[in-house]
Amino acid sequence: MSQLALGLDLGTSGARVVGVTPKGEVIAEANRDYPLLTPRPGWTEQDPDDWRRAAMEVLRDVASQFRVREVAALGLSGQMHGMVPLDGVGEVVRPAILWNDQRTGEAVAELEREIPREELVVRTGNPAITGFHLPKLLWLRTEEPEAFARTRHSLLPKDYLGYILTGVMATEPSDASGSNAFNLSTKCWDADVLGAVGLDPDLFPEIVASHEVTGRLTAEVARATGLAEGIPVVAGAGDNAAAAIGLGLSSAEPRLGSVSLGSSGVIFIPLAAPPSTPEDRVHLFCHADGGYHLLGVTLAAAGSLRWYRDTFAPASDYAELTEAAATSPIGANGVTFRPYLAGERTPHMDPDLRGSFTGLSLATDGADVVRAVLEGVAFSLRDALGVMTPLAPLERALATGGGARSDLWLQLLSDVLELPLARTDSDQGAAYGAALLALQGVGLVERAAGAARTEIGARFEPRAGSGYREPIRRFKTRGV
Ligand code: XUL
Repeated sequence: MSQLALGLDLGTSGARVVGVTPKGEVIAEANRDYPLLTPRPGWTEQDPDDWRRAAMEVLRDVASQFRVREVAALGLSGQMHGMVPLDGVGEVVRPAILWNDQRTGEAVAELEREIPREELVVRTGNPAITGFHLPKLLWLRTEEPEAFARTRHSLLPKDYLGYILTGVMATEPSDASGSNAFNLSTKCWDADVLGAVGLDPDLFPEIVASHEVTGRLTAEVARATGLAEGIPVVAGAGDNAAAAIGLGLSSAEPRLGSVSLGSSGVIFIPLAAPPSTPEDRVHLFCHADGGYHLLGVTLAAAGSLRWYRDTFAPASDYAELTEAAATSPIGANGVTFRPYLAGERTPHMDPDLRGSFTGLSLATDGADVVRAVLEGVAFSLRDALGVMTPLAPLERALATGGGARSDLWLQLLSDVLELPLARTDSDQGAAYGAALLALQGVGLVERAAGAARTEIGARFEPRAGSGYREPIRRFKTRGV
């Protein structure tokens, strides 16, 4: 009986696999980390061979947890935007350049010279963005011409893994729409955009629906992992779309979104159709269910708290810090933190923006400073939501990520966003959504998002007159 799907997520810090039944229960999991390479300041890379090794290890690990013939399909998810250049025989040409890499300023300018910003936004849903796939390929052409000359295929990270598992190169709309080269209306590579920058569309793989089977597990991978040869592999989704599927978020129910307080803070709003007015300060991508979604990103969310702890309070744990923050009043006694520690995406789209503390005085104590960090992240997410809701109104959101464990942080976030939030207690992340897409791909469930088991925990309602008006004004006026 083949009654289980695997979801394999290729994250930035490691690979994770989960085994999920058609009832949406997780019955097996395995994780393996790999290194992040930073060969120069602002550069982030990974060795695709580290991905391959980690993927084989996690698959071998889960295969030993149940009978291999129970696996009906495997779905993929992964960090978006990265670029893996392959030569004519499918060998990796150079290390993968990742989503958070900042080297492509010149390439972004080149893209903007060739295609007016507004036209690129209408065609692809986004302006030219440093971290996206196409600027990386243009960078390769200018800066490493020999490597570019050998490049015959340019793959997104999870699609490279799909190629390793099946020998087939393919992608799907949710990840392809984070490339700057994918037309949102036709759901095909945009030949005009690629033509304008002199690139051959054949560099990019075939596009199938996110739940479609792209190929089958090769005999070699079966031998290396203990899984059965021929297991169908489903295209899957970029990590944000896959995580949303795992939370049950569907473009048929657009007013329910999610807010994640992970290293970065992410607001996800599903949409049935692209908004009629183009907006260049927020991402518009395809969802994995055939619809679309808006994505607002604050690059340093729980990452700001981690930075604060590592830098100023290495002996404290997060619970101690947030307990202290609760003793400081709303507005943190005048201290304002701007969380632009890694530049900012939504709404500023400026990789060079930098963070700050302002309003410090001799009366400021540690509790005020931590509270200012929590508030600053919430204010920054409010800025993001402010450009999203005119395009797609939101009634409530599920809260996920490590930072969402804090009641204080979620209540202040609900107050600041003026949005009801519900903590999800069953946050299995992108790997779970990938497994649900795999179940759909082989017909074991009708709709991936519909099969998600989302356990709702504590709820947080925005409190009227909560006192954030003045702190928000301070955040905006002394800001950037
Ligand atoms: C989304 C984005 C990140 C990556 C990393 O636009 O850049 O969420 O997908 O996981």
